[in-house]
Amino acid sequence: MEKETIYILAIESSCDDTSAAVLANDKVISNIVATQKIHEEYGGVVPELASRAHQQNIVPVVHQALLKANIDKKQLSAIAFTRGPGLMGSLLVGTSFAKSLALGLNIPLIEVNHMQAHILAHFIADEDNRAPNFPFLAMTISGGHTQIVRVNDYFDMEILGETLDDAVGEAFDKSAKILGLPYPGGPLVDKYAQLGNPKKFPFPKPKVGGLNFSFSGLKTSILYFLQRETKANPDFIAENLNDICASIQYTIINILMDKLKKAVKETQIKQVAIGGGVSANSGIRIALKNAEKKYGWSSHIPKFEYCTDNAAMIGIVGYHKYKRNVFASQDVTAKARYIIQ
Ligand code: KG4
Ligand code: ZN
Repeated sequence: MEKETIYILAIESSCDDTSAAVLANDKVISNIVATQKIHEEYGGVVPELASRAHQQNIVPVVHQALLKANIDKKQLSAIAFTRGPGLMGSLLVGTSFAKSLALGLNIPLIEVNHMQAHILAHFIADEDNRAPNFPFLAMTISGGHTQIVRVNDYFDMEILGETLDDAVGEAFDKSAKILGLPYPGGPLVDKYAQLGNPKKFPFPKPKVGGLNFSFSGLKTSILYFLQRETKANPDFIAENLNDICASIQYTIINILMDKLKKAVKETQIKQVAIGGGVSANSGIRIALKNAEKKYGWSSHIPKFEYCTDNAAMIGIVGYHKYKRNVFASQDVTAKARYIIQ
């Protein structure tokens, strides 16, 4: 007899995206993301505004996810939600909503670590998805995170290194802000970088031990460099935008790739998977393709919609926990700092 399908409703609200997804086993049947535009005016995420927007969005987003999946709440096997890490006010909205819904429907509740979800997003079943085999290295690069993780199994992960200050996406966004570009500036830096000379303006790389990262020094050196140059020529940025962006991107990608190469060397694991919004960057994609040819790595990048914050990745963790009977109780609380183990 065929096994019964497991339907998971997943909820993600850790930062500034309110998202709900429905999975049928490891397949995504709906994945709705409401991106909060309000933060653009402020040049970054404003936590208080984020939690208020989650409050407004969560009911319509969940409703739409169920509607698009064409299933009724009564068919759901469990509710999975992001417990952390993230902004406390944002996490509380998703956590309270998930707990109430699971209680109301009398179905199991599954708590999910957002960072683990970015990594397990590689296991969402898709026609063109090539999931990595265990063990592999996962580098999560986004506006909120920069980590290299050794993934031994679905729920056996070890953080090998992480940023000591800014996340890599923040490095892109803050550099863009200094250049007068709107938030989030990462995609724009990437766009201009493709037209410029990456070696025109060399920026120093930080000296950080082990597999950890640091990006705050880079931001400062870009700021001082531009202050100096615009003093001599007020039109310096406009006249050199492509080359400046290409040079910034080149430095950031080199920082990421240096640590990845070090991680591969130390672990002897040549399967490298990336995730998070910065995975969209053309520079990192080219660098990974080159490393495949040059060093024999195999690289894995999920579909872009599963790279940025989304509930489908929460759902895939939910599915694997459901299969293992790993459920949360109604006492579970949100955790702003929640380390993978
Ligand atoms: O994963 P994500 O959507 O949200 C979190 O921060 O968790 O990542 C957003 C980040 C932003 O910092 C954005 O500037 C960056 O990803 N980003 C990029 C590109 N596309 C998005 N950075 C560089 N190049 C891109 N093409
Ligand atoms: Zn994230």
